[in-house]
Amino acid sequence: MLRQRAIFPGSFDPLTNGHVDVIERCLTMFPEVVVSVLSNPSKDALFSVDERMALIAKHFSGVEGVSVASFSGLLVEFALSQKARIVVRGLRAISDFDYEAQMALINRSLDSSIETLFLMAREANSYISSSVVKQIAPLGADVGHLVPPVVDQALRERFQK
Ligand code: PNS
Repeated sequence: MLRQRAIFPGSFDPLTNGHVDVIERCLTMFPEVVVSVLSNPSKDALFSVDERMALIAKHFSGVEGVSVASFSGLLVEFALSQKARIVVRGLRAISDFDYEAQMALINRSLDSSIETLFLMAREANSYISSSVVKQIAPLGADVGHLVPPVVDQALRERFQK
């Protein structure tokens, strides 16, 4: 195991089974993963940053090695403030690659000590995204197979199912 802390940044609006899988796999490689929620006020947000953090913390409560933080500004600066050199991102399909490669290269151009590590999504999760959950949950779709139970419950409460 690499004796380094990794950060897993994202919007997490909301946490999905795809994110959970990446975090669990990080824990097999790193002693600690900081799930880092971008604090970016957006009209399209379903959950506030505090709500997203609380859902992540609730799902992983009692799991050693997972912590939750929020950040604003540059990811590389946040990584340095966390004493983390490894940024983990999940890749679902080739269509993710362009954007992810650009982000990794920009981040490296800003700070060459930061490495981005990509984890390929499991096939079963490769079609899951927060945006699709955000799109179908308000329409009454059952999303229990796409998100962890705490998020499913929060969505049910939000949309009064
Ligand atoms: O879950 P997302 O929305 O795909 O995550 C994107 C995220 C938060 C990783 C990215 O937008 C980010 O790092 N934003 C912070 C600003 C920054 O440092 N950008 C540089 C990379 S282009």
